[in-house]
Amino acid sequence: MSQKVLIADAWPYVNGDLHPGHFSGHLISADICARFNRLIGNDVLMVSGSDCHGTPITVQADKEGIKPAQIVKKYHQNILELFKLFNLSFNLYTLTTTDNHRKIVQEIFLELLKNGFIQKGVSKQYYSKFDNKFLPDRYVEGTCPHCKSANQRSDQCEVCGRWLKDGELIDPKSKISGKPVELKDSEHYFLHLDKVGEELKEYVESKKGIWKEWVYKEAKGWLDEGLKPRAITRDMDWSIDLPVDEIKKLPKEMWLDNFFGKKIYVWFEAVIGYLSASIEWSQRETGDSLVIFNNNSSLSRDWKEWWLNPSSKHYYFMGQDNLVFHTIMWPAQLIGTQRNYVLPYNVVVNKFMNYEGKKFSKSKNWIIDSKALAEKYGVDTVRFYLALTLPENKEGNFSWNEFKLSVNSNLVGNIGNFWHRNLSFLFNKLGGSIDLSDYNIDLEVKRQIEQTFIKVKKCLEECQFVNALNTIIVLSAFGNKYFDENKIWQLVKENPQKAKEVMLNLLNIVLNLALLLAPFIPESAEKLFKIMGVAFPTPAVGKDNIVPVTLSSFKLALEPKPLFAKIEEAGVN
Ligand code: MF3
Ligand code: ZN
Repeated sequence: MSQKVLIADAWPYVNGDLHPGHFSGHLISADICARFNRLIGNDVLMVSGSDCHGTPITVQADKEGIKPAQIVKKYHQNILELFKLFNLSFNLYTLTTTDNHRKIVQEIFLELLKNGFIQKGVSKQYYSKFDNKFLPDRYVEGTCPHCKSANQRSDQCEVCGRWLKDGELIDPKSKISGKPVELKDSEHYFLHLDKVGEELKEYVESKKGIWKEWVYKEAKGWLDEGLKPRAITRDMDWSIDLPVDEIKKLPKEMWLDNFFGKKIYVWFEAVIGYLSASIEWSQRETGDSLVIFNNNSSLSRDWKEWWLNPSSKHYYFMGQDNLVFHTIMWPAQLIGTQRNYVLPYNVVVNKFMNYEGKKFSKSKNWIIDSKALAEKYGVDTVRFYLALTLPENKEGNFSWNEFKLSVNSNLVGNIGNFWHRNLSFLFNKLGGSIDLSDYNIDLEVKRQIEQTFIKVKKCLEECQFVNALNTIIVLSAFGNKYFDENKIWQLVKENPQKAKEVMLNLLNIVLNLALLLAPFIPESAEKLFKIMGVAFPTPAVGKDNIVPVTLSSFKLALEPKPLFAKIEEAGVN
């Protein structure tokens, strides 16, 4: 039975170039999941876009001495190119600066306001006398009161992940002037999480066994801390406007005393992007230079079939610092609309990936250029390595030495070698074709292939990508052993018929490996099919293509060439 699947990939802040940590944080997992679901016949809609508002962008604009809009333009363009290079199969990759997004954010804001989930209130915010303005979020830094880490932002500690309220930071200072800041009353709108508390608790509890254990526990931890109202507006100018005209049609108690300078908080609106991008995708006919757009995947183009259809499954992908926003805030926002929008089914969170034992850091120039990495070693080599080392349950580490060792042993020495030794044997020793219509492939080979499919599918359905890939690697190792044990190079001289039979078994393993690897290394998998003269299955809704294939004849369509190269020297820049 086919199913509507939404792949919701976290919206990267468009304040810099993306490093491999972003790819292992969520981009790679999201793409594998999307490709897998398409291949098993689900109707997949994969959306994301650049997160363009809030202090992450304005701080960068200040640093570069240009306008926030120029920051967006510059880095969004780089992201589009990078995502195309990495073959990320978005149906829509857009931005939060579109009119469509603003409109939908404002609509949802109004609904929540009317439903009583958003209420106005007063809170103490950091104010800099010296800079003569309120300083939200990243404009104030100080020491985290919980874990005592220095140089933390005023909204959330990057080290312990705790949310901070204005006033909690120790020794808060302005990032602009470096001067101490003080607290001053400011009127804002608040999201009243307490009002959806019961439903939210039930929702999170229903995820036990579906979300990873640590994700579930952390979400429960947030619930246990108590659901306090959260400010969802800020005193700043680079963000989405409040729908003031519409608010003014509502009872006066809902108005702020003064709307001047108040904008919607970036986290309140960015998550709404999943919905607004789905709507944008429904309404678009073509792409343009600002988006990645693909509409070829599905029968339906109506966003409601994903968002209002209770059997639709939504998978979200993100790094660990996004956890609370997707397990608590976003579900609360959706519940609060009382429109029965589909809630996240799986929230797939990865931990951070470090670089040679230290955090990736642009300011400390501790980064890897993702584009250079892919151009030097090949996109699929990078995708493969990142997929195999995804920090699914604990922090990961990108190390050049391990990159080299892992690629050389798993991708080149195991899979690539297995593919190439068979195809070149067929090409050189058997004239490039084989046809054994009444020979049945070895039962043990058949069993190995079938078991692998069952295991890999189960892992991928549960979003256990590393396990899935390791299971595929085991099948390739089995194939290599089968090749060695049968001494096919000897057999071809002594018993050519038997050699052909052995080769047919091996070729079927080769082909099935490529099929299983397609979500991970799509370009290479398709290339392999092409060389083998077999049509790569076109995803079709309702058709499961991830099933073992057994062919009794093969005819090479192209001269085989190794698809992966051994890494001699690792490093870029
Ligand atoms: N921009 C955020 C980050 O890079 C992620 C936003 S995800 C969304 O951490 F849900 F808000 F879209
Ligand atoms: Zn902390």
